[in-house]
Amino acid sequence: MSKPVVLVAEELSPAGLAVLENDFEVRHVDGADRAALLPAVADVDALIVRSATKVNAEVFEHASKLRVVARAGVGLDNVDVEAATKAGVMVVNAPTSNIVTAAEHAIALLLAIARNVPQGHAALKQGEWKRSKYTGVELQGKTVGVLGLGRIGVLVAQRLAAFDMNVIAFDPYVQAARAAQLGVRLVTLDELLAESDFVTVHLPKTPETLGLIGDRELRMVKPSVRIVNAARGGIVDEGALDLALKEGRVTGAGLDVFSTEPCTDSPLFVHDNVVATPHLGASTHEAQEKAGTQVARSVKLALSGEFVPDA
Ligand code: MLT
Repeated sequence: MSKPVVLVAEELSPAGLAVLENDFEVRHVDGADRAALLPAVADVDALIVRSATKVNAEVFEHASKLRVVARAGVGLDNVDVEAATKAGVMVVNAPTSNIVTAAEHAIALLLAIARNVPQGHAALKQGEWKRSKYTGVELQGKTVGVLGLGRIGVLVAQRLAAFDMNVIAFDPYVQAARAAQLGVRLVTLDELLAESDFVTVHLPKTPETLGLIGDRELRMVKPSVRIVNAARGGIVDEGALDLALKEGRVTGAGLDVFSTEPCTDSPLFVHDNVVATPHLGASTHEAQEKAGTQVARSVKLALSGEFVPDA
């Protein structure tokens, strides 16, 4: 009897692949290449993706045998869960696999824009020793506004508290008592914008959060504010941010995510005070190993008809 087929549409850790190899036929495709993906899903039982593969109704129409879609990461915004449910396809992810890694990357960007690390590095490698040009600011005593106090936002808040920052947060789904336990003061979005020296975004991408930080909001911030978005592109409106940077209403930004990815060309890249990385938030060996093994185990359970617990 032939083995069930698992199609891996993006890079999966060797540990994840090892979980699958004995029981399944594992095939690979570039999920970002639609012309390759659609025929490739025709006879597969499971599909594993990260963030570059758009799994929507069109994919389900081409995949009559598909029983499970697994996202090797936290968010599910590139998987149309409603369309999956209609098609009778289970969706699983690895909701805790990369939360520490994502929190650490946000903090790396925050420190980088506070101290001009990439700019100083680039100048020095060009033979320029510019100490005063790249004078930065301390974190101690500054206010950081955490947008979204979910799993990642909490880790960021705890770590930034250790830098003696005053941590405030906006999250309509979190109780003030829970925030207080974490030493975080819950505020409204407008209060957060007005009070923060740093803003860091840790929200999922939903119709409510898309463009949440737009022109109105960027007119409420301190001009010295530095903004980090290592969550999802488009939560901070890119056009509004570009204008705010041009007009000196924002001092710096650290961006790991973009409204369209891959993004290799953006007006934001022109600003010397924008530090950008190519969606590296989940990219550590540790996180990829956890994400890979967690989704591989979930796929195995799902294809054997067993209960799939939350990872
Ligand atoms: C996530 O949602 O966990 C990440 O965006 C995954 C990834 O980097 O592909």
